[in-house]
Amino acid sequence: MSIHYEVITPDSIICVKDLCNELMEYQKSKALVHPEWFDNMCFETRMIPSFQSAKANFIIIAKDAHEIIGYAYSNICPKNTYSGGFATLDPVDFFDFDSVQSDDVGCLSQFYIKDNYRNAGIGTVLFDKSMDWLNSFNAITDLFIFVSNGNDPALKFYQSKGFKISHQILDGFITVLRNT
Ligand SMILES: CC(C)(COP(=O)(O)OP(=O)(O)OC[C@H]1O[C@@H](n2cnc3c(N)ncnc32)[C@H](O)[C@@H]1OP(=O)(O)O)[C@@H](O)C(=O)NCCC(=O)NCCS
Repeated sequence: MSIHYEVITPDSIICVKDLCNELMEYQKSKALVHPEWFDNMCFETRMIPSFQSAKANFIIIAKDAHEIIGYAYSNICPKNTYSGGFATLDPVDFFDFDSVQSDDVGCLSQFYIKDNYRNAGIGTVLFDKSMDWLNSFNAITDLFIFVSNGNDPALKFYQSKGFKISHQILDGFITVLRNT
């Protein structure tokens, strides 16, 4: 297995469509709280709007020969992006805005490695490169990761990388992790 990594340009975003949809299916399969909320989540409803509304985006892919076997998507958004509905009628703040000094925050928004390629260090490479990009914005100190319920391996992975569980939202549908 010879894995290489590429940062993709906005016009190539479609190349992660299948993996994005696999991620939504994976998260639904793990979820105990409102798994049905994933039914409307897919590349077109999650990734495209997020990509278009963010101030800056970073997608890095891992390839085994010509096959894309994983990706990480990070972005920079105004913190007030994280207020409002999320597959639910009730508006919710994803975190306490007063706890963030800057107007913008960074987020590791989507992260997926195909099953056969997990636990081989590929995720760590994608994670580290994503953090390098997020940390290159000197004015932004607050980084977030939102993990859907039931995905304990992902929680453990992010904690091993230094992120801390902050709180839960949406009746436990999402656990919020922060770097601070
Ligand atoms: C979470 C995820 C992206 C991590 O990617 P990964 O490639 O499996 O991650 P790594 O292999 O770098 O690390 C996983 C574990 O293997 C270990 N590991 C790292 N390098 C390794 C290597 N060369 N050989 C064996 N194990 C290794 C790591 O220490 C890590 O253990 P830890 O979690 O106890 O720290 C991946 O498991 C995944 O896609 N899961 C399904 C989707 C998902 O949950 N996405 C996150 C949504 S929030």
